[in-house]
Amino acid sequence: MSTAVLFDRYGGPDALYATDTPVPSAGPGEVVVRYTAIGVNPIDWKILRGDLKAMLPLELPGACPGVEAAGTVVQVGSGVRRFRVGDPVIRHGRPGTFRTHEAVPASQQADELTAWPSRFTAERAAVLPVAAGTAYSALRQVGLRAGERLLIHGASGGVGLAAVQLALLDGAAEVVGTGSARHHDLLRRLGAVPVEYGEGLSERLAELGPFDATVDCAGGLEPAGAAVRAVPEEARRVTIVADPAVQALGVPFLEHVPLELASTLDLIGHSPFELPVTARFPLSRAADALALGQRGGLGGKLVLLPTLATEQDADHDVSL
Ligand SMILES: NC(=O)c1ccc[n+]([C@@H]2O[C@H](COP(=O)([O-])OP(=O)(O)OC[C@H]3O[C@@H](n4cnc5c(N)ncnc54)[C@H](OP(=O)(O)O)[C@@H]3O)[C@@H](O)[C@H]2O)c1
Repeated sequence: MSTAVLFDRYGGPDALYATDTPVPSAGPGEVVVRYTAIGVNPIDWKILRGDLKAMLPLELPGACPGVEAAGTVVQVGSGVRRFRVGDPVIRHGRPGTFRTHEAVPASQQADELTAWPSRFTAERAAVLPVAAGTAYSALRQVGLRAGERLLIHGASGGVGLAAVQLALLDGAAEVVGTGSARHHDLLRRLGAVPVEYGEGLSERLAELGPFDATVDCAGGLEPAGAAVRAVPEEARRVTIVADPAVQALGVPFLEHVPLELASTLDLIGHSPFELPVTARFPLSRAADALALGQRGGLGGKLVLLPTLATEQDADHDVSL
């Protein structure tokens, strides 16, 4: 059998339930992947709450959240040449990864599976697609070039931490990133100059500027206003949080580039790259993971580990 975490109605984390399901079979052009680690993201609780139902309609009852995971191919359908049984892969894209096994389209065109480089542990691989992939696209959108100075709002979150590191790999001369004071040591360690958000932000940034480009990974009007003041050219600003009020201020919303994860992995190569995992939960406790993610302030990523079987196995670096 396999296990899936599903929901039958839009709501909070308590709408999720774990259920046994048959292991799927690989159809033509598909592979079945058994997941070792599953990333948790703000989009999961936004999907569950129904915030995205217009743009991302799901079939209810029985919808499955989760947009990233790392695992092993356990079955290959007819016509698949790209993967073999035993291949380690990263799954990304459409919702459906909060489960132990999934049948996934295997073609490069579908862009749902990417080879999992052996240098990343399962949990580090599982959290790459959303954080690092989004950061990669955002940096491409603002056209960051070597020697430039970048401002990142929400630098201490999943996407922000990735953006700091990818910008430095792109050759940025300096990266200034906002985040809570408790995350400043982490930001410094990754190579950024940390700044606290909140009252007085614009004055603090004025002392640290000028900036060539800015990426907003926090959302809201304060970061947007600061982005507009810090970077005069609209094309060199981007936000990853859709908000008509922010877009009206002159901070364009992100467009993802095709084959984003594969390009991100090419850029990282064998360079040091770290997305801290701050809490791990058994798959059956996905609701607790989403509740913690919704609270925010994690300074890293959350993962679900299907092999953690009991409540006692949950493992946190942050207080619940
Ligand atoms: N468009 C896309 O494709 C896409 C992809 C990924 C994510 N997103 C969205 O982007 C956002 C961030 O995602 P994430 O995974 O990085 O989330 P996260 O890990 O929760 O990070 C949130 C970040 O925002 C900061 N923050 C919190 N309150 C703030 C405030 N009032 N002012 C400025 N910064 C503040 C946090 O700082 P501290 O923790 O230090 O307080 C942290 O750096 C979410 O809304 C998510 O849904 C969009």
